[in-house]
Amino acid sequence: MTVTETISETSAFAREARQNGRTIGFVPTMGALHEGHLTLVRRARKENDLVVVSIFVNPIQFNNPDDLKKYPRTLEKDLEMLKGAGCDLAFCPSVEEMYPDNHRKSYDFGDLARVMEGEFRPGHFDGVATVVQRLFEITHPHRAYFGEKDYQQLQIIRALVRNEHIDTEIVPCPISREDDGLARSSRNERLTPAMRKAAPYIHMVLEEARSLAANHTAPQIVNFVKAKFSDHPHLKLEYFTIAGGNTLQAVEGRISPGDYGFIAVFAGEIRLIDNIRLI
Ligand code: PAJ
Repeated sequence: MTVTETISETSAFAREARQNGRTIGFVPTMGALHEGHLTLVRRARKENDLVVVSIFVNPIQFNNPDDLKKYPRTLEKDLEMLKGAGCDLAFCPSVEEMYPDNHRKSYDFGDLARVMEGEFRPGHFDGVATVVQRLFEITHPHRAYFGEKDYQQLQIIRALVRNEHIDTEIVPCPISREDDGLARSSRNERLTPAMRKAAPYIHMVLEEARSLAANHTAPQIVNFVKAKFSDHPHLKLEYFTIAGGNTLQAVEGRISPGDYGFIAVFAGEIRLIDNIRLI
C-alpha cells in the first residue's frame, strides 16, 4: 500500500491508473477507522481495480471547535487496517496541503441542506461538499463509497455530483452496527462506559418506531420517540424527524414506502446520529 501526503503524488497515481485503463474506487474518511469504514473499503475492493482511501479530519465541516479538537486521531492503526482491507493508496494530507488559502465554497443544495444536520450544524454541508469535491478532483474516481449512516450527507453528495457534473458514480453502503445495535462511529470511542452502555437504546427506539409505521401517522411516531427520550438519564434527544428518503422533507401524515426516521442524540457531550427506513 502506498501512503501519500501530497496532492501531486496522489493525482499522479490516479492519472496513471486511468491511463492504464484501471478503475478507481474511492472511500473518503476522517480516520479513526472502524469496521463500518472497512465495509466501504471492502466493497470498493470488490468493484474496482484500485482502491484509494483518504484520511483527513476536515476542519471546515466542524461547527463545534471542541469536537474538532477532540476528534480521535489514530493514523498508524488506520493504515494497518487499510492494508488488511486491500487498500492500494492511502492519501493523508495536512490541512495546509488541502487548504493553502483556507477556502470554503458555498453551495446551494436547496431544501436538502436546510433540515436536520443542516439546521443543527450550520455550514457543515458546505464544508463536506468543499472537501469531497476537492478530493474527487485529486483522485478522479470511477466510483465513490458513502455510508447510509450519514444519510443526509449521502444525499448531499448525490446532489453535488449532479449539480457540478462530476463523472463519479456514488455507491451507497448500508449502516454497519455493533452486536448491540449501536451504529458504528468514530465518536463511539469517546463515550464513557455508562454512555456506551446507554447508546444502543437509540437503535432500539428506531426499531420500535419502525414497528409502528404501518398503522400510525408520522406525528404519532414522532411523539412516541420524543416520549421515549423525555426522561432518559443519559441520552438527550436533539431531533427525531420522519422524512422522505429522497427529498428529506418532513412527512406530515401517513408514512409511505421510502420514508425514514432520522435521529440525533447527545450522550453526554458526544453527539450521535442514526436512521432507519420505516417502510
Ligand atoms: P467519516 O465519519 O470518517 O465517515 C467516512 C465514511 O464512512 C462516510 O461515508 C460514512 O457514512 C461511512 N461510515 C461511518 N460509519 C459507518 C457505519 N457505521 N456504517 C456504514 N458507513 C459508515 O463522513 C465523513 O467521514 C466525512 O464527512 C467525509 C465524507 C470524509 C468528508 O470529510
